[in-house]
Amino acid sequence: MIPIKNAKEAEKMRQSCRVASDILERVIELIRPGITTKEVDEAAAEMMAEAGVKSAFLGYRLGHRVYPGNICISLNDEVIHGIASQRRIQYGDIVKLDIGVIRDGWVGDTATTVPVGVVDDRVERLLRVTEKALERAISVAYEGKHLGDIGAEIEEEATRHNLNVVREFVGHGVGRKLHEEPQVPNYGKRNNGPRLKAGMTLAIEPMINLGTAAVRLLDDGWTACTADGMPSAHFEHTVLITKAEPEILTWRGKTQLK
Ligand code: MF3
Ligand code: CO
Ligand code: CO
Repeated sequence: MIPIKNAKEAEKMRQSCRVASDILERVIELIRPGITTKEVDEAAAEMMAEAGVKSAFLGYRLGHRVYPGNICISLNDEVIHGIASQRRIQYGDIVKLDIGVIRDGWVGDTATTVPVGVVDDRVERLLRVTEKALERAISVAYEGKHLGDIGAEIEEEATRHNLNVVREFVGHGVGRKLHEEPQVPNYGKRNNGPRLKAGMTLAIEPMINLGTAAVRLLDDGWTACTADGMPSAHFEHTVLITKAEPEILTWRGKTQLK
């Protein structure tokens, strides 16, 4: 069953998502050469405490593994679930920041990819295309459409530019739990899968690679990297399906790239 949020619950989601996107906006401002990912993670933890919310990732369990970070910070060829460390961010890196918070029992989940200074043209294009793929996916997130319509938009935008969609990780319903039904793949067929309904809240999160779509897991048991070491981009919004326009609950009110 795909959970449907009533008006009150949608308002709760609006609030948790607002906190997640406000914190993401502030964390983006911290990204500069020389800062360690641990310093970024700790600053995010302070912002969460100050806002009266909890990390939706810290302590998250997958089998016997427990996620140790407050946010996910993944550099360059790291696709998602990177764990903060003493590693220093360098000029030319791309930094994926993924932030999930729990506010009063409701989860907001959002991510972006930040270029540190001037990056390679192909990498810049990878970011633009991945952000555009998310925008296209959201543009079809109307009641009555199918889940496959979302994935089809993303896949089409990627392949149109000779880029490759990661298939091992997917978007998801989000609400009382970080991951609820349905899974939201970044590929699919139009008119396939369950129909979208007003009150669904979906985390739509394309992950697109410059090289091979294949990923591998690092020894830390969490960090997913591209199999060929080429860069990967990730953008994510939590979106409310309504009777009219989709509502981007984690919108930050300006271009989403920076
Ligand atoms: N941020 C991921 C998502 O968008 C989930 C991270 S879970 C963690 O769905 F444990 F790895 F942090
Ligand atoms: Co996320
Ligand atoms: Co997510």
